[in-house]
Amino acid sequence: MIRNIQTIIPGIATSDGAGVKLRRSFGGQQRARLDPFLMLDEFSSNDPNDYVAGFPAHPHRGFETVTYMLEGHMLHEDHLGNKGHLKTGGVQWMTAGRGIIHSEMPQQVSGAMRGFQLWINLPALEKMKPAGYQDIQVEDIPSLALANGGSVKVIAGSYEHDGHEVQGPIQGVTTEPLFLDVHLPPLMEFEHGIPQELNAFIYVYGGDLAVGDPMKVAPKQAAIVLGAGDRLRVKSDGAGAQFIVLAALPLHEPIVQHGPFVMNTQAEIEQAIDDYQNNRFVVT
Ligand code: CO
Repeated sequence: MIRNIQTIIPGIATSDGAGVKLRRSFGGQQRARLDPFLMLDEFSSNDPNDYVAGFPAHPHRGFETVTYMLEGHMLHEDHLGNKGHLKTGGVQWMTAGRGIIHSEMPQQVSGAMRGFQLWINLPALEKMKPAGYQDIQVEDIPSLALANGGSVKVIAGSYEHDGHEVQGPIQGVTTEPLFLDVHLPPLMEFEHGIPQELNAFIYVYGGDLAVGDPMKVAPKQAAIVLGAGDRLRVKSDGAGAQFIVLAALPLHEPIVQHGPFVMNTQAEIEQAIDDYQNNRFVVT
């Protein structure tokens, strides 16, 4: 059964960090979420005033942050001593767990900075696990050429290509995330199986795309939540299309969020604030 468009969460212009301009869909004003996805930001600008201030040191607890750089260069540094360069086509997969304090600062003063940051929740049993950090360079992400043109990058999960299951570099995450970046030439169909137990959405960041059966036009720069089914079917318009596909197992757990802390209860949030204010937040 083909998954159709269920809900559209528009990306609303806002700013975060020290004034970085971005569009937030999940996690925006109404706190719209799709279990286990908590937040999705798209940043896209050719104007350095929109991004040079970056994201100075700040904490996270209880979930994972995933940054995918379409274009640009940022430097990540954290309290564990990790230092990672996020460059065009690369991915940073950070497990905040019990706590991480990090900064993400642009390493450019001109040119385009484009990409996504996604927050994925952790199950209660893993919210206080040690922080972890994976820096994945563009050459470590499989990029598969499609038969009729276009390409699929497999960042997490797997994609069946020429009879083989191609695995993305991110493995071993409890919510079994799928993360693809798909580029289609004009008027091309694309299908991919997404098991029905996974919550799924797409986000069109370039060109034009129609989704489902019957096909419906998908608005750009919005998180498009897909309904029940086990298959994604899309078709690009005359300009082609670029979009990301995300899916993961829902956790069905209570969520209490206070800014960059996402826990299951109010008491755990108060503990996080207390730990942060009293230098017990991170373990080095
Ligand atoms: Co952060």
